[in-house]
Amino acid sequence: MSTVYLNGAFVPKSEAKVSVEDRGFLLGDGVYEVASFYEGVPLCMDRHMARLERSLAALRIDFDVEGIDGVLRELVSRNGLDTAERSLVYLQITRGAAPRTHYFPTEPVEPTIYAYAASWSRPPQDAWDRGFRAITVPDRRWMRVDIKTILLLPNGMAYQDALEAGVDDAILVRDGVAIEGTHQNFWGVFDGRAVTHPESNLILAGITRGVVLEVADELGIPVEQRAIQVEELQHADELFFTGTTGEVRPCVEVDGSKIGNGRTGPVTHALSEGFLRRVARMKEAATAATP
Ligand SMILES: Cc1ncc(COP(=O)(O)O)c(C=O)c1O
Repeated sequence: MSTVYLNGAFVPKSEAKVSVEDRGFLLGDGVYEVASFYEGVPLCMDRHMARLERSLAALRIDFDVEGIDGVLRELVSRNGLDTAERSLVYLQITRGAAPRTHYFPTEPVEPTIYAYAASWSRPPQDAWDRGFRAITVPDRRWMRVDIKTILLLPNGMAYQDALEAGVDDAILVRDGVAIEGTHQNFWGVFDGRAVTHPESNLILAGITRGVVLEVADELGIPVEQRAIQVEELQHADELFFTGTTGEVRPCVEVDGSKIGNGRTGPVTHALSEGFLRRVARMKEAATAATP
């Protein structure tokens, strides 16, 4: 039985209960984060906490994130995941329970804090050998997807479309631009340059995206942050996604057409290896810092 964290206490999952008046349940009024742990060591926890603070501030949810990173580490330990090659922690903060109104409650409300940890593994080798594929789907989300809210129905519908089409993710398209995946940022490689959508209200500024930008810089791979038109996709040398769950994930086919030679390209490969080296360095540093 897994142990979860709810409102200040670690409890068995079966005992974790929230109010039917919780505004997350009724209105999707909340934010979340998902962070990766590698053998119990979190990747970029400070950046996840900074993004969480930004999301909370955007929704005017009054909650101090101080100490929450420690809670997440303890959750990993309590669930026996300290030695797991990879695990994920999900953290959700909603505005709390209050009579249902469209406006924010006028009386102070205690936010609801919920977190769980789970082991996570990379897809099997045959999935890599076959290559990851995508379809394009209209971006039906709202105009503030830079805030990491729990309002994920349009992402879920697009992902479902992808799975029903027998592929691995959907590329969300708005005004002719390939914006991002359903739960990952999207990149193309054109003439040796790695291209990804600039930060704006139209994408989530992924933590993995940020790390991969740094890795590209370290490796001397030129980067351009600009919109990628859908018509450009078939002419890309490579396409790939980045995200906490998928890390750096090549995309070798879009809407049934092969990209490049239909295999993982050299830039994607270099960035993926660079990302994994970054993870290894981070683990080493954490081990060295342990008394
Ligand atoms: C829409 C969307 N874009 C991008 C990402 C990737 O962000 P990160 O690298 O922080 O996981 C996510 C992650 O959940 C996402 O939901």
